[in-house]
Amino acid sequence: MDVRQTAGDTSWFVHDRFGMFIHWGLYALAARHEWVKHHEKMTDAQYDRYLRHFDPDLYDPVAWADAAAGAGMKYFVVTTKHHEGFCLWDTRAGEYKSVNTPCRRDLLHPMVDAFRARDLRVGFYHSLIDWHHEDFIIDDMHALRDHPGRAAMNEGRDQRRYAEYLRAQVRELLTEFGRVDIMWFDFSYPSREGFVGKGREDWQSETLYQMVRELQPHIILDDRLDLPDGWDIKTPEQYQPREWLTVGGQRVVWEACQTFSGSWGYHRDEASWKSVDQLVQMLIDTVSKGGNLLLNVGPTGRGEFDARALDRLAGIGAWMKRHGRSIYGCTQAPDDFAAPSDCRLTYNPTTRRLYVHLFAWPFQHLHLDGFAGRVEYAQLLNDASEVLMKGPEDWQNAPTTPEKRTLTLTLPVRKPDVSVPVVELFLK
Ligand code: GLC
Repeated sequence: MDVRQTAGDTSWFVHDRFGMFIHWGLYALAARHEWVKHHEKMTDAQYDRYLRHFDPDLYDPVAWADAAAGAGMKYFVVTTKHHEGFCLWDTRAGEYKSVNTPCRRDLLHPMVDAFRARDLRVGFYHSLIDWHHEDFIIDDMHALRDHPGRAAMNEGRDQRRYAEYLRAQVRELLTEFGRVDIMWFDFSYPSREGFVGKGREDWQSETLYQMVRELQPHIILDDRLDLPDGWDIKTPEQYQPREWLTVGGQRVVWEACQTFSGSWGYHRDEASWKSVDQLVQMLIDTVSKGGNLLLNVGPTGRGEFDARALDRLAGIGAWMKRHGRSIYGCTQAPDDFAAPSDCRLTYNPTTRRLYVHLFAWPFQHLHLDGFAGRVEYAQLLNDASEVLMKGPEDWQNAPTTPEKRTLTLTLPVRKPDVSVPVVELFLK
């Protein structure tokens, strides 16, 4: 099945497969979700305490880039501005920015430089939503949605001026940081019966889209501008799709975005951290369905990745070091290869190798129906140790019938000491 063509260049994207999302802003200080201003219905005056105290004195973008590269990530997408409206760079379009906090610095340029130096591609997340800007009409999702002064405050506001501000900022991002590979807008929530939201007219999405394409024609665009066709990638978040995503019956380029613990911004008290095994399985599961994984880190208000994040990244990196071959350049296996239970398949069409990822370790034998006669050699990927194969003709206690064309792999009794073992099959 062919994949929907993209206006932006997704050729590198579907090869690289694994990126880092970074959510960093004033909400790191609240340390209880990047939506804290909305959740707690804070006014600007209340939220200002974070602006006054934002001082990431331990910020070391080189260490961040090292952690990302060490985990096997090939690109990153950072929140240049999240819904709170605060900007990480010295934008000329406004004053709500890092240079006007105690840290007095542009935080974005050094980050872009550090990640580029590690050969990671650059992506900018930019929030369409802005709970700080004075022209942004207060709607039903705004922090001030229930404020008694909402109607009065809205009187002087002009959403068209906000759309200009949005464009001015995006123009800066796409002209002052060199080549940007991904533009990630977030998000639209059109008005409906009983709900005042925002969509393409409020953002002037068409104009924004044209401008982005003009400034960086190769750029990959996400799907949240509320434009039926103006997007390159679908971006399901916080869940794993059951199969390759399709739109109108056609497969599309897609990227799952996932968190370590639920919140995107740094959350001190969240206890729902996924394990390394779960995260590695998530990456494999995504690629086995033809997708990418964008895995999020929420750095602290001091400017560090916390110990839990570093632990997960290091664990993923240890696995990727030996198993990157089953991820990079790989995609969903051809339809005539079916995965046995507890397994995920990925396939590299260039090398014609098939990768069997074992989420549960069976006793001694793995039966691959339909594979007989199609595999030339098999090995464990972590140590390149041969895996012996038997076809239906030399398998004595065959619990299968020959019609199933079963290829049986003989595995060691003990599971290799890796998060998810992988058998590499060299196809004939
Ligand atoms: C959402 C949330 C958000 C997060 C994003 C990541 O829509 O509003 O906080 O940045 O998705 O996909």
